[in-house]
Amino acid sequence: MHEANLEDYLKRQKDLIESEMEAQLAKLSIPDRLKASMLYSLQAGGKRIRPILLIASYEAYGTSIEKTISTAIALEMMHTYSLIHDDLPAMDDDDYRRGQLTNHKKFDEATAILAGDGLLTHSFTLIANEPLLTDREKVELTRKIGEASGPLGMVAGQILDMEAENKGISVPLEQLEKIHELKTGELLKFAVYAGAFLGGATEAQLTHLTRFAHYLGLIFQVQDDILDITGTEEALGKPVGSDVDNNKSTYPKLLGLDGAIKQKEIYVEKAMESLQQAGAIQSQLKALIDYISNRDH
Ligand code: IPE
Ligand code: IPE
Ligand code: MG
Ligand code: MG
Ligand code: MG
Repeated sequence: MHEANLEDYLKRQKDLIESEMEAQLAKLSIPDRLKASMLYSLQAGGKRIRPILLIASYEAYGTSIEKTISTAIALEMMHTYSLIHDDLPAMDDDDYRRGQLTNHKKFDEATAILAGDGLLTHSFTLIANEPLLTDREKVELTRKIGEASGPLGMVAGQILDMEAENKGISVPLEQLEKIHELKTGELLKFAVYAGAFLGGATEAQLTHLTRFAHYLGLIFQVQDDILDITGTEEALGKPVGSDVDNNKSTYPKLLGLDGAIKQKEIYVEKAMESLQQAGAIQSQLKALIDYISNRDH
């Protein structure tokens, strides 16, 4: 895929997701400050990689994307909630996110907690209310997004990450992979799974795609770690060097910068192989591997 085409594709999907999220939120009759705070974080930029992956994964098998939109924006809301809470003083205590003040800095801590709660819970409502989904699809998607984001997924990863950091210990590669699989991998996996499921992929295709998503998650994380060293604050919208400052276990710390880059290449090969086996190598998912692997923010 030609770079310009991928950029056009990303822009088109991003615009669609953002306008749908705003429209959904605008419709809600909720207290002004809650709405302002939820909207603030949803509009504060971000790559929208999860909903884009979901739609691209659908397109590998299905034809009209309308039925994916609610689930795609529910996923971005879930992700945004996790970032608002992750930045709180009791957690990472960060002042900037996506190049703007974090939610609790812009509003206050209590409002930020509630805005996060609101985005988290509304994501379930969005899926349940989508008339284009069958009841079976609603149940499957709700169950999966709950598993991916909750104590069996992201939330578990967040606590393991926090514990490792508090102990100040450097975890081995295996444990590092486990933390990342839970913390970031599970939501990315949900994105790929949900899209393919709605698109009508077979069980065998879903199995290969889940493997693809597993490697994609690892690629995402290695690059995240690499960017903490080689990136710029301007492009990232958050400070660089914070992993070193916080004594975080990262791929470059465990393997060196060159070793981390090599490890990323191994994951890219495995992701490509799984995509081929899933019969989705012609889809935008292939270009998305390159994008996630080489992103500068
Ligand atoms: C950042 O995710 C937090 C992690 C899970 C590592 P993204 O890099 O997808 O953040 P945005 O949504 O583009 O801001
Ligand atoms: C955030 O992880 C991941 C979740 C919110 C689940 P990090 O704390 O490592 O991400 P950044 O560096 O704040 O984006
Ligand atoms: Mg964190
Ligand atoms: Mg953080
Ligand atoms: Mg990081």
